[in-house]
Amino acid sequence: MKIKQSHWHHYFGGIALLLLIVQVLSGSVLTLFYEPDLKEAYASVQYLYNELSLVAWIRDTHRWAALFLMIAVIMHFIRGFLRKDYLNRDSKTLWLTGILLYLPMLGFLFTGVILPWEWRGYWFMEMIPNYVGEIPLIGPSLSDFLINAFTLNRALVVHICILPAITLVLLGIHTFTRVIKRAGGLTLYVMEHSLLTLPFLVAIAILAYALPMPSQDPAIIPMPLEGENLPTAEWFILIFYVPYLYFKGFMATLLGFYIPLVIFLALAIFPYFLKGRKTKSVENITLKDHAPEKTHTVEKKSAFAKFMAPLRRLLGARTYAKTLAFLTVLLAATALFAPLFVVSHESPTYGCNSCHNPSMGDRLGLPPDSFKDRVKNPNLKDNTFMVEHWFYPQVVW
Ligand code: HEC
Repeated sequence: MKIKQSHWHHYFGGIALLLLIVQVLSGSVLTLFYEPDLKEAYASVQYLYNELSLVAWIRDTHRWAALFLMIAVIMHFIRGFLRKDYLNRDSKTLWLTGILLYLPMLGFLFTGVILPWEWRGYWFMEMIPNYVGEIPLIGPSLSDFLINAFTLNRALVVHICILPAITLVLLGIHTFTRVIKRAGGLTLYVMEHSLLTLPFLVAIAILAYALPMPSQDPAIIPMPLEGENLPTAEWFILIFYVPYLYFKGFMATLLGFYIPLVIFLALAIFPYFLKGRKTKSVENITLKDHAPEKTHTVEKKSAFAKFMAPLRRLLGARTYAKTLAFLTVLLAATALFAPLFVVSHESPTYGCNSCHNPSMGDRLGLPPDSFKDRVKNPNLKDNTFMVEHWFYPQVVW
């Protein structure tokens, strides 16, 4: 099967779509075994994990695919940003829906971590109200509302109904309306992209098998620092909390909340303030139309283009443009993922059950019944304690 060149323009978008399908399928299986009840949830997850080996593998697939999905959507964004997709007048809605899709993605991560209702889930559940509490004016009441409204049932409904519905609507505008107009439609698109995604699917299948998530406690208890250095999808949320490790008060809020919020809003609306390129539907754009490197260099040669001219002649215009694009994407990806790794690699995502397991008594067993009571558990409001305890649980508790 020959893959059209234009498909490579959203190679990572295609991967993201395929992984989303993987998530729907694996998630559907998990729903069959999950019990959304504070007392039963973790036991039901442990049962499906320790007694049913195929379902266990599906759970690990669901976790690893979430990580790859986050990476794919960010790569997809980088590619589109560098290619200046937002300049196409037609594509502005695509741009906006693309940016908005990050919200349900983060929502999936949050609720997904909460559902098993061990101490990691409990930690995440307590951190969301703290986070939205920073919003001016409505923050405190929103935060109270989230604490009071929380039940595992609702978290499940958000995870498997509300967020998928939002995603589907946004994806409908972002992807489906365009793809179904093509020859072959959605079916051909998914088939072609399955081939492209195959290496990632294989990688996920192997990772899910080789690096399972420890859930055998208290029979087998993990080490407190287990999961250090192991990338997980939760890192994409933890990164917003990291400022609390280093700062207190306004500075932490600025770095962890206000700046990300401003960047997000700016990214969502800034194309609307730029003058659009000639109207051109995305499907009609072939690689030739789409090589801005070429047209720009003809108009006026930048100092950079002059400097690179010998290399360009050596490689040929096409290979040169491609290499340059590849290197730029690589650089941008490094600039985004390196900080994520640097600040998150120490977080021992898998080690919580080392102390927080039923054999350690009531206080440390399952999350306590008083979990919503911030007078009884004042630590829960203290972001610095919470984040330090996550990163260095062996020191801070
Ligand atoms: C070295 C043992 C140990 C590890 C590992 C550990 N904790 Fe804790 N954690 C404690 C102890 C002890 C307390 C109780 C402090 C107290 O009673 O005030 C605590 C308290 C907490 C609290 C505060 C809320 C409450 O009810 O007291 C949360 C939330 C929490 N842990 C989550 C986690 C998470 C998430 C992880 C994994 C990243 C983790 N813990 C790893 C020992 C540990």
